[in-house]
Order: sequence, then C-alpha cells, then structure tokens
Amino acid sequence: MSRRSVLCGVLVALAVPGGLAACSSGSTPSGTTTGGGTVPGGGATTPAGPPIIAALADVPDGGGLIAGNPANSKPLVLVRTGDVVKAYDATCPHQGTAVSPPENGVITCPNHGSTFNAADGAVTKGPATTGLKEVPVKVEAGQVVPA
Ligand code: FES
Repeated sequence: MSRRSVLCGVLVALAVPGGLAACSSGSTPSGTTTGGGTVPGGGATTPAGPPIIAALADVPDGGGLIAGNPANSKPLVLVRTGDVVKAYDATCPHQGTAVSPPENGVITCPNHGSTFNAADGAVTKGPATTGLKEVPVKVEAGQVVPA
C-alpha cells in the first residue's frame, strides 16, 4: 500500500474537506458514470429521482412510441401532444398482443385489428371490447417519468 493510499484512507476516515478530491486524481475512477442520460441517476446532469420512461425529445409530437415501464418492465404506448404525454399499458385487452405506436390519433393492435383512440385509450373497433388502461405519467425536466 502506497503512502498516498494510506493518506487518502485517513482523509476519508476523517472526512477532511478537499481531501477527497485530492485522492480522486491519478487513481482508477470508481463510482463515477458517464453518458447514459436515460439511466436514472446515471449522470451528473440526471438527478436521482423517479425512473425515466423516455426522453420527451424521443417521443414524436403528434405521435408516440412504445417504451418499457420501469415499474414492471411491461410495454407502454406513449402518446405525445406538445409537451403533454399520456401513457397506456400497451397490452391489447383482447388477447394480450402489444399494440403499435399511434398513427394519426389511432393505436392499432396488429394481431386482430382492434383500434383505440390515442387521446383516451377507448376502443373504437373490436374485437377488443374494452379500451387501453391508462398509466399515469408526467413530463419532468424533459423526461417522461411515472406520475
Ligand atoms: S390481440 Fe389485439 S385485437 Fe386481438
């Protein structure tokens, strides 16, 4: 063990202000992250907080996309209108196929052709008999996160 390592250990133990910064240079980085802006708490510009579903900039305005729900890893269909994003469980209520992202205000299930209103998730054409279940989300600091 070098004298520097011993000194840094003492500074850490004593929590000497400024001492920790001196220990970080020239040694192997540990506990630091770079990039990965969509990883919660993964970068200096991403504060620790709710898990991120998607970056608002990645969700087409007037359309949407499919994203994973960090709460349960199930797919969500995101629908964006300006700075407002709604989310629905992407599982089709008919037989469970994942629906497609919205196009022209319509969410379609590719399996049997059910359609849903992107504005409220209501079924507009069967065979599904019920609409998509809304999942509460909000936009916070340019990120879509659980509400
Ligand atoms: S599974 Fe979606 S319409 Fe049948």
